[in-house]
Amino acid sequence: MTEPRSDALAFFGATGDLAYKKIFPALHAMARRGHLEFPVIGVAKSGWGLEQLRERARDSIQTHGGGVDEKAFAVLLKRLRYVDGDYNDPATYTALRKELGDAAHPAHYLAIPPSLFATVTEGLAKSGCARGARLIVEKPFGRDLPSAQALNRTIHSVFEENDVYRIDHYLGKEPVQNLLLFRFANSFLEPIWNRNYVDSVQITMAEDFGVQGRGRFYEEAGAIRDVVQNHMLQVVGFLAMEPPVTTYHESIRDEQAKVFRALRPLRADDLVRGQFRGYRKEPGVSPTSTVETFAAVRLHIDSWRWEDVPFFIRAGKCLPVTTTEVLVTLKRPPLRKVGDTNYFRFRLSPEVIIAVGSQIKKPGEQWISESTELKVVHNPEGEEMDAYERLLSDAMVGDGMLFAREDAVEAAWSVVQPILGDVTPVLEYEPGTWGPREADRLTEEIGGWHTPQKSGG
Ligand code: BG6
Repeated sequence: MTEPRSDALAFFGATGDLAYKKIFPALHAMARRGHLEFPVIGVAKSGWGLEQLRERARDSIQTHGGGVDEKAFAVLLKRLRYVDGDYNDPATYTALRKELGDAAHPAHYLAIPPSLFATVTEGLAKSGCARGARLIVEKPFGRDLPSAQALNRTIHSVFEENDVYRIDHYLGKEPVQNLLLFRFANSFLEPIWNRNYVDSVQITMAEDFGVQGRGRFYEEAGAIRDVVQNHMLQVVGFLAMEPPVTTYHESIRDEQAKVFRALRPLRADDLVRGQFRGYRKEPGVSPTSTVETFAAVRLHIDSWRWEDVPFFIRAGKCLPVTTTEVLVTLKRPPLRKVGDTNYFRFRLSPEVIIAVGSQIKKPGEQWISESTELKVVHNPEGEEMDAYERLLSDAMVGDGMLFAREDAVEAAWSVVQPILGDVTPVLEYEPGTWGPREADRLTEEIGGWHTPQKSGG
């Protein structure tokens, strides 16, 4: 497969929040590696000029990109262009086409609300900007199954699926990719990675902060749409998939999509929703909001490998710590004096830990065991690529492996579709706690939730 490299990048929403927090830092990092060899055109409707966008870029990199490297920043400034215009106005696309110069394979990155996708896609098509082009789109990809299907139809009216790159930034994270590598690059794991040895799987995505001024956005989302349908299910996919074959490039995405299809659509009974006390007073939030800031679910995978192994997800805002952690618990050995069970613990953030919970003999006369962890901590200071840099770089060279494919996105929506909205009451919880007590009901059968420790744990 030789895909042409994109020879220009246009990003819509250039003056917005995502550009500020993620896109400029990623472009700066690409420049630092010597990878920013194409024009970068910001598009927005803000009444700004190029100078203002440059200032914004500097500020963004200073605040979110770990500081400005003047040499790299100079490269970014040299590449950066700006088109200010309304997305409904054909003149905006004419101006963009002009800035694209002789680029034959531009990439268009839509860092804008999905409600504008149709307008922009059409504008790109009519102006000739879509010819030979790729499309990169941000999450959320729709707000339920029908809207995701409609978005796919809109996009496909102009772009082939092969040229569409749907971002789920969790797939761009090194420690998430490592789940896959760790599973399949270690021969000791595969024989036990199934229903015969695995008792349960838990994934926790905890954040100790609230909605951070994104109340208006969050009101349209809630925890299930914001992180469960996408980030959390991608992690489930990597943990549960069959070994991908290496003879064709779509095999990882094929296996990922197969897991989503094998996931039983969730029922209200599999779900506990919570909302932290104080959420309703956040700017942009309705005083009677029933949107969840916490969701706990029990998943079933109907497959030969995972039949009867429960997978749990717990995700929420204003919890006691900020971390994402996976716990794969193994079945107990038939020895009565063995204390805890064995497990694999994968901490995906903030630091990267792989730990194996094991039993050793407790020193002393008695034949009893005590628990210990064989632990590897990897703190890849500086060497790790940020998810956005990784994904943007991949999209520019036409590598779609770490992007959500149409069928996978729709299958993931099918899993959560029955639990969207007010299918269960939203229960209030105190900020700084692990969500509503009622969530304990879900994990009763396995002895309760795993509680990740603060950093250093
Ligand atoms: C985003 C969600 O997709 O992921 C946010 O919209 C969440 O609500 C964020 O905080 C978490 O990402 P990360 O990379 O900071 O763990």
